[in-house]
Amino acid sequence: MAGDKGLSLEGIKNETVDLVWCFGLVERFEGPSNCDFEVTDVAGVVIEVGSAVKNFKAGDKVISMLNFMKGGGLAEYAVASSSLTVHRPPDVSPAEGAGLPIAASTALQALKSAGAKFDGSGKPLNILITAASGGVGHYAVQLAKLANLYVTATCGARNVNMVKGLGADEVLDYTTSDGSILKSPTGKKYDAVIECTTGTEWSVLERNLSKNGKVVVVTLTPMTFLKYVVSKLRCAKKMAVPMALMPKEEDLRFLVGLVGEGKMRTVVDSRHLFSNSEDAWAKCMDGHATGKIIVEMFGGS
Ligand SMILES: NC(=O)c1ccc[n+]([C@@H]2O[C@H](COP(=O)([O-])OP(=O)(O)OC[C@H]3O[C@@H](n4cnc5c(N)ncnc54)[C@H](OP(=O)(O)O)[C@@H]3O)[C@@H](O)[C@H]2O)c1
Repeated sequence: MAGDKGLSLEGIKNETVDLVWCFGLVERFEGPSNCDFEVTDVAGVVIEVGSAVKNFKAGDKVISMLNFMKGGGLAEYAVASSSLTVHRPPDVSPAEGAGLPIAASTALQALKSAGAKFDGSGKPLNILITAASGGVGHYAVQLAKLANLYVTATCGARNVNMVKGLGADEVLDYTTSDGSILKSPTGKKYDAVIECTTGTEWSVLERNLSKNGKVVVVTLTPMTFLKYVVSKLRCAKKMAVPMALMPKEEDLRFLVGLVGEGKMRTVVDSRHLFSNSEDAWAKCMDGHATGKIIVEMFGGS
């Protein structure tokens, strides 16, 4: 355990690990069967700290996003950077906390990129969130409501009530004809779409956008970047903008705070024992989770 430049927490004993769906970019380049899969999101207890770490000590309960390229979360012990670690308050369970780092941060940054403000100064935008039942989407719905946006959401029939319960104003079942064309039941045009699915035709998105509407695409593919460059060159008013997460401690702290204050919750799809992590992995790869998939190291959280 390196304690690189004194910045690392030298060890976290993992209590709960959230399975992080691989990034769209890697997924597309390598194909789902070769998908690179790093488990980065953990809740645990600090075992040791590096000499320069002042804000954590052994025994602290924390939530952390581990190194993005190396992962290492699917293990009993992990090395975490203090710059992407926050304290876990007593009213945030390890499972709730472990769901947050990538999925909720992505939802937050996507919404900010769409113009959402969380200090009450934002405009009342109409927003569409696709795959609102998924890991990123279910946080996006709750965060969008906290930013006072009007939310239309898509999900399958079995999750419609759950997504309404998260605060969505309108919910479309993506398996119906109206749902597949993303048509708002009240005829609203979307100022922004948070696109958490793949395969939605641009023509479908475009016809539902307001004049300067934009699609924030979190499901990254090389084509997303190419289309973005072409739209920029053409000075298009409506465009799809790729968004890759830039992990930030301040975002994680904000999100943990919201859960602690009861303003946002983590929907847990399923919990798996460490010894059954293959089941969790299979469930994750299946692409039909409702919320987050959790692996528990020592049972119960
Ligand atoms: N850009 C970034 O930095 C970043 C960060 C994190 C994640 N991501 C990407 O974000 C995407 C979403 O991740 P996730 O973890 O939220 O996915 P997820 O949890 O696997 O999403 C599963 C959910 O999506 C629903 N769904 C599937 N297809 C749908 C469709 N066409 N319309 C509406 N709902 C649909 C499923 O409902 P049913 O079961 O009813 O089908 C299921 O509830 C992934 O591609 C991931 O790679 C990107």
